[in-house]
Amino acid sequence: SPAAQAAPHGHPPVTVAHRGAASYAPENTLASIDAADRLGFRWVENDVQRTKDGELVILHDSSLARTTNVEQVYPGRSPWNVSDFTLREIEKLDAGSWFGAKFKGEQVPTLEDYMDEVEHNDQSLLMELKSPELYPGIERETLRELRSVGWLNSAHLKDRLVIQSFSADAVKTVHKLQPEVRTGYLGNPSVADLPRFAKYCDQINPVHTVVTREYVAAVHGLKGPHRRPLDLYTWTVDDPATAVKVAGLGVDGIISNKPDVVRAAVGGD
Ligand code: G3P
Ligand code: CA
Repeated sequence: SPAAQAAPHGHPPVTVAHRGAASYAPENTLASIDAADRLGFRWVENDVQRTKDGELVILHDSSLARTTNVEQVYPGRSPWNVSDFTLREIEKLDAGSWFGAKFKGEQVPTLEDYMDEVEHNDQSLLMELKSPELYPGIERETLRELRSVGWLNSAHLKDRLVIQSFSADAVKTVHKLQPEVRTGYLGNPSVADLPRFAKYCDQINPVHTVVTREYVAAVHGLKGPHRRPLDLYTWTVDDPATAVKVAGLGVDGIISNKPDVVRAAVGGD
């Protein structure tokens, strides 16, 4: 495609299905990663949070209100924060109906069930530690869980897992605890600050509106902790024109709710 030819590295960016294929199925559910799988997407993105009883679950917001029927099931427990509910309570919630009647009965997945499905679909995972400041210790717990489901073995580490966060401290902690895991920082440090991030990040992942050719080149000019040039994955791009633009700037990945739209615009798989 024209965009792919325009990319300095000569191949189209990787398209990552954001929160699963979130335009086509309720975000961060098993249905959403299955939708991505059916569209042929190997990479999915998710968000990890923690329940009152310390279980890791997949949900974007720190509150259950937007994407479940928690207000009906547990009236009076506003603001319905994940951290105020046990897993048993959360398992009673419907995380699909808000999106469409045919998704009734979808649940907020545990990290364990989610990883089972990713593995079953033979997909790869860009995992976000969301709001880690709310959940002290979540970096270690996430790594423990990933180890127990077999995702810290060398094949998975090599090309099926990246852990990212808006919290530089959380990314640093993941790198310190488990240096073999690839990591990403969700933000756009200044070019002068990039070398500091390159000590513990493999990816720099900024919002698409700030990406420039110069910035991409500065990111690519540094080697990360695994001695490979840093990558840049940008978010959240759902329209073809923006996808073509950022592909032309040389980004390595595009994170999208409509991954099929991005793939149609920029090529690749
Ligand atoms: O993967 C990047 C993107 O997910 C960051 O924003 O709010 O959708 O988690 P958000
Ligand atoms: Ca996210």
